[in-house]
Amino acid sequence: MIGMGYVGSCLAATLVESGLEVTGVDKDEKTVSGLREGVSRFRDPGLPEMIAQGVDTGRLRFTTDYGAVSDSDVVLISVGTPTRDHGRLVDDQLRGCCEELARHLRPGQLVILKSTIPPGTTRRLVIPLLESGGLTCGEDFGLAFCPERLSQGAALDELRSLPVIVGGWCRESSSAAEEFWRRGLGAHVVSCSSPESAELAKLANNWWVDHNIALANELAQVCASFDVDVIEVIEATNSIPKGNGRVNILLPGVGVGGSCLTKDPWMLWRAARENGVDLEMISAARKVNDSMPELTARLILDELARAGRAPEEARVAVLGLAFKNDTGDLRETPVAPAVAYLRAAGVDVRLYDPLTEPTEVERIFGSTPCASLDAAVEGADCLALLAWHGEFRRIDFTLLRDKVAPNCAVVDGRAHLPVPAVESLREAGYSYRGIGR
Ligand SMILES: NC(=O)c1ccc[n+]([C@@H]2O[C@H](COP(=O)([O-])OP(=O)(O)OC[C@H]3O[C@@H](n4cnc5c(N)ncnc54)[C@H](O)[C@@H]3O)[C@@H](O)[C@H]2O)c1
Repeated sequence: MIGMGYVGSCLAATLVESGLEVTGVDKDEKTVSGLREGVSRFRDPGLPEMIAQGVDTGRLRFTTDYGAVSDSDVVLISVGTPTRDHGRLVDDQLRGCCEELARHLRPGQLVILKSTIPPGTTRRLVIPLLESGGLTCGEDFGLAFCPERLSQGAALDELRSLPVIVGGWCRESSSAAEEFWRRGLGAHVVSCSSPESAELAKLANNWWVDHNIALANELAQVCASFDVDVIEVIEATNSIPKGNGRVNILLPGVGVGGSCLTKDPWMLWRAARENGVDLEMISAARKVNDSMPELTARLILDELARAGRAPEEARVAVLGLAFKNDTGDLRETPVAPAVAYLRAAGVDVRLYDPLTEPTEVERIFGSTPCASLDAAVEGADCLALLAWHGEFRRIDFTLLRDKVAPNCAVVDGRAHLPVPAVESLREAGYSYRGIGR
């Protein structure tokens, strides 16, 4: 497994648990030395334990040395593929990895590319680089693009249940990759007839998600204007069958973050543009979702104003800093711009997130997070629920009443509390406001 970031860590640990032996190769020495000691920088529930167990049994090893590739039957690539200028691939990680691999590939191996890439990249960049070592793709080694579609926070379950798309370079590559996923993970396989088809399917998946959240976010705003609860509207809307499934509007929230949904739609947009196709919907959805942190911050300021608190006198406890529920990942978290907006208005913001790395919080938010929930909520005029992790779901808000300020508001940016929970909050003396609620 080349690239031991989030995807590489989750996939390597899962393959080991399924009985395979995996060597994780990463160019970052700190990552490798940490993993060798069984320490993961990702704290998804269960992941650190799986990695530690793999290391203990000797079935999961880590190295910075590509020499390990020669001993493998299958080589998976999960290096980062960041973009700049709205979707332009920054290919140095992928290029570096393929150039190294070209020096170590041997006949008979299967290369599986997992990293997200613009359509055409397997054919135009990856294969020529891999062949620069003298071997021919399709003859000496096999290659398939099999995009990773896990969603952070649910990755370990999803790796065992999601169908795997296989876009092989040739028929033999496809059969070998399909066999690998069936035997390695017991996965259901979806065959695509070319790498380009699989590349487009991956990007279309995240286009759909981003677009659907934008729809929910705009629906939330119109619902609020009619004093109607968007959650009730979405539940009612989603009750009819459509196509092969049902109408499935997703949920509104503080914004869309992470390394995928903020990048993949633009990747598709740019690739389409370079092929002479202008995609109008992508920029519209991105704009809606990018506006949500400010909208959430304005909701918080509104609630403070209703309680008679000027921003400069107010204290807000932000519970949950990660880009979504049940992950510690802070990449592109929409909570950061929401907090920046509150601070610019003069609010004293306290931060708390049990899943995030404090040094990363300091780097991204510019202040040290509180060490405990109690320290964060002390004297708060508003509890802003911006990533709703498992630990938060056990909070007894009635018990917090003595710690928070008398007119404390709860602003729900991602918890989507059910109506009875909202009623209990109000009975306990909090005001409640959600996005579209
Ligand atoms: N994070 C997600 O939820 C997710 C989901 C689906 C798909 N993806 C895609 O999967 C890929 C990996 O994502 P990630 O979140 O794991 O990225 P990441 O940034 O967490 O990890 C990338 C890793 O690759 C290593 N690396 C970079 N260049 C290397 C090289 N030449 N040789 C060896 N190692 C190298 C880095 O040191 C890093 O540890 C990306 O293309 C991403 O778009 C991510």
